[in-house]
Amino acid sequence: MKAIILAGGSGERFWPLSNSKTPKQFLKLFSDKTLIRETYERMRYKMEPKDIFIITSERYQQLTMKEIPEIPKDNIILEPIPRNTAPACMIGTLTAQDDEIVTILPADHYIPDKSKFWDTLSKAIQGAQEFDGLFTLGITPTRPETGYGYIEAGKPISNSTYKVNSFKEKPDPETAKTFLSKGNFYWNSGIFVWKKSTFLEQMKKHSSDIYNKLINISPWDTDNLRKIMPSIEKISIDYALLERSDKVYVVKADFTWSDVGNWVSVRELQGYSDNDENVEVINGKNVFVKSDKFVGIIGLSNIIVVEGENGILITKEENSQDVRKISEKLKKMG
Ligand code: GDD
Ligand code: MG
Repeated sequence: MKAIILAGGSGERFWPLSNSKTPKQFLKLFSDKTLIRETYERMRYKMEPKDIFIITSERYQQLTMKEIPEIPKDNIILEPIPRNTAPACMIGTLTAQDDEIVTILPADHYIPDKSKFWDTLSKAIQGAQEFDGLFTLGITPTRPETGYGYIEAGKPISNSTYKVNSFKEKPDPETAKTFLSKGNFYWNSGIFVWKKSTFLEQMKKHSSDIYNKLINISPWDTDNLRKIMPSIEKISIDYALLERSDKVYVVKADFTWSDVGNWVSVRELQGYSDNDENVEVINGKNVFVKSDKFVGIIGLSNIIVVEGENGILITKEENSQDVRKISEKLKKMG
């Protein structure tokens, strides 16, 4: 089996810690290890370094090598021009042998329990071997989140695996509410398992342009990719393949998972900082602080304070999605 870690995203929702030079996957949000390092170690738990690949933007090459120095240099595949996850999944999958299993993983999720994660993943690996399908790991949804893909489970093929009836990427709020109320919908965790041959056959059928442009390239031929990639559509694998294929399956995930979308999700996972040694709150409560300095807060509740090298964020929790606007403003200022 090959594991392909997708690490080319450039989100900036974690300002002042993240920016386009240091996106979320390179942040230490929950421990002294970055999210990409945690992802690597999760796979290393049962795999050899030679079988773990990272596909990322050329500009993150040095950062990636620094984070995961023990994998062979050739296991870091470089995209000269990012084109979202469909091309990245295709290039990554091309590293495998014909009938070999490939597991695709986002680099920036929080999954604390390696052993439970592998229990679910093993079921998907077994399923992909047996059924020639595109296997997803489905998370039980808890709110009508519109930033995820929704998987409609159909007929069971074992006690935790189902044939998928439909896949809808990032629905509007009304549709998300309807899905949530039905009971047989899961969130797409973004982790996929397939045989190289099954994946290529499905890409040829449902996303032939990307298939035709990439099928004859070598994942290591960065110069050739530089020529081809500008003409490739920017599209995620969810739209390019999962929504279109009728060979999708879902394994119900039995592990704690978060895609850590913003500072509030970090706070939800870590708890409030009111009792931290370096925090003093007077006449207020429920604050989240990430700073090495001593922080005094007076008369404010439900706020988030983050100190980074290049700035300080102070926001009410309810406004924390606007962090993006600050990143944009700073980008314009240069
Ligand atoms: N190599 C490479 N190249 N990696 C990329 C690129 C690219 O062009 N674009 C994004 N990635 C990486 C990101 O770094 C991340 O690890 C992963 O691919 C997923 O990309 P996101 O941009 O974070 O996707 P999303 O969160 O909007 O949606 C996906 O994940 C959700 C769960 O977190 C979808 O698969 C949804 O269906 C899913 O619910
Ligand atoms: Mg994401």
